Amino acid sequence: MIEARNLTKVFRDKKRGEIRAVDDVSFTCRPGRIYGLLGANGAGKTTTLRLLATLLRPTAGGATVAGFDIVAEPERVRASVGFLATSTALYGRLTARETIAYFGRLNGLSDAAVAARVARLADELDLHEFLDRRVEKFSTGMKQKTSIARTLVHDPAVLIFDEPTIGLDVMTARNIVRFVRDCRTRGKTVIYSTHVMSEVEKLCDLVGIIHHGRLVAEGSLAELGERYGVQDMEEIFIRAVGADGEEAA
Ligand SMILES: Nc1ncnc2c1ncn2[C@@H]1O[C@H](COP(=O)(O)OP(=O)(O)O)[C@@H](O)[C@H]1O
Ligand SMILES: [Mg+2]
Repeated sequence: MIEARNLTKVFRDKKRGEIRAVDDVSFTCRPGRIYGLLGANGAGKTTTLRLLATLLRPTAGGATVAGFDIVAEPERVRASVGFLATSTALYGRLTARETIAYFGRLNGLSDAAVAARVARLADELDLHEFLDRRVEKFSTGMKQKTSIARTLVHDPAVLIFDEPTIGLDVMTARNIVRFVRDCRTRGKTVIYSTHVMSEVEKLCDLVGIIHHGRLVAEGSLAELGERYGVQDMEEIFIRAVGADGEEAA
């Protein structure tokens, strides 16, 4: 479970001044559900996810993740979360197996537990073909699958995916979308950020539309379609964002 309450992050930038990257955002993600955070570039998706993963401290408001407070109990939050960031660097000299095992040991897993998790994740993500090859020669898709396996090695209850299909070919992107759906089936709490409308339609039980740091609309696809009088996610998005622009003007 993730519960964000009035989550706010203000950056102070020398040139741009005060940036309200995340502005009074509240939402709930439940186990066995995929929450889609949909927004354009710069909308505040990554900042929201970094707050939940305790990589940033909120300016105001807060959140609980798997029952733990992100400010008071960051270590316990981190132990319960797998966070796949967009900018994941892998060590080129390690193999995929070594990469996953390394992060397993960092998370306190025994050698036996690591071996079991590597085998499981290799099945689920289809890693066998390149499991014992060095990461430096991998394609973007192979790297992304290795990053996902590394992120989930400790089998966390809460999964945070930040635009996981960005830059991937169609087949690899489909595999990753299918994998995320399987995570829901296994009862994980999943939050998934994207700017790709069709991924929201395929994956998400609940959608939050974020624009200039604010959650401007939230609901299931059906609910949002009814509210805005259109069925297509792209139309819903344009109307939700447009309505916010008018209010702000
Ligand atoms: N560390 C930072 N310092 C200053 N501004 C930042 C920082 N991180 C993000 N921002 C700004 O916050 C806003 C939201 O960014 P981000 O959360 O990365 O959006 P998204 O992931 O939706 O593209 C943008 O205006 C971005 O430039
Ligand atoms: Mg981002």
